Amino acid sequence: MSDHSVEPILLEQLKKLQAKYDVMGQDLSSYLDGLLHSDYLTYWDYIHLDTLLSLQSPKTSLPDEKVFILYHQITELYFQLVLLEIEQLAQHENLEEKFFVDRLKRIVRYFQNLENSFSIMVDGMEKEQFLKFRMALLPASGFQSAQYRLIEICSTDMVNLVAMHEREAMLEYSDIGQQLEKLYWRSGATELASGKKTLTLRQFEEKYLRLFLETGMKYRDRNLRKLYLNHFPNSPEVISCLREFDTLANVLWPLAHMRSAGRYLQKDPEDIKATGGTNWQKYLPPRFQKIMFFPELWSEVERAEWGKAAFVRG
Ligand code: HEM
Repeated sequence: MSDHSVEPILLEQLKKLQAKYDVMGQDLSSYLDGLLHSDYLTYWDYIHLDTLLSLQSPKTSLPDEKVFILYHQITELYFQLVLLEIEQLAQHENLEEKFFVDRLKRIVRYFQNLENSFSIMVDGMEKEQFLKFRMALLPASGFQSAQYRLIEICSTDMVNLVAMHEREAMLEYSDIGQQLEKLYWRSGATELASGKKTLTLRQFEEKYLRLFLETGMKYRDRNLRKLYLNHFPNSPEVISCLREFDTLANVLWPLAHMRSAGRYLQKDPEDIKATGGTNWQKYLPPRFQKIMFFPELWSEVERAEWGKAAFVRG
């Protein structure tokens, strides 16, 4: 074959391309011209590296504030990975056990990484710096992480996210709007006696409540719990993955996170106020909230021990 002849495989590809562009009424030749002039893709453009590294804007000149911002951003990217997997599962037309388990394993791995890496927060900043730059962040708080709330809403039925003291009574209602009113994090950031909401909560609700309601409706019949119950209620592998996910998301990550709060916000004799204004010592421990995505997968004893040392060791 001479240097100038076109290989048969290329001709075949050109024909397929022409068919593709013809369907859309487009001229393939013009697109090929575009290809001729376009630059080769680089790594840094592909992942938008310059943009990514320009997204940290500390409010102070204390160097550890960047550690704080970056680790929050890393966590949000992991949350995005988790949501991508859940979305794939929810949209799948013919869910098979292997696909379900493979995706659940990915979710478990993401959360394992989040739990393991939390020491970056616990041990990786100077307390003196933290206590200074935190004042520049008021009233922002990780409490306002919408992706964290979306993971919850897409993983289970809304009723399982209702504040513990209202959860049982709520079981009789099926209305998602009513359940949304009583979510544990809304009551955690509300002063019970006066009914006054923290500013952190009010701003968060204003921005995201509609999205949470819409997501709740969309996932009512296809959240992870529903997918499990409807498709694989007796699969030991599915059950094992879901138990692991529940433990990581609702006990181990919250405990790792709480160690940060303890390290930076505990000070004898009294505690330092949280930036989001919750009573964090009562709000953050998983043993007080008892949030479980898959309550039916736990025995009565396990539910009673949820978030306590015995449970975590077990
Ligand atoms: C020094 C590090 C940290 C401290 C001291 C801390 C402290 C707190 C406190 C006190 C709360 C309760 C809400 C409030 O009143 O503000 C909270 C909630 C929260 N934080 Fe953090 N946090 C830290 C790091 C992080 C990181 C890196 C993330 C990652 C995104 C994060 C995500 C969250 C989430 C999702 C909540 C809501 C938890 C729930 O509602 O159960 N936090 N944090």
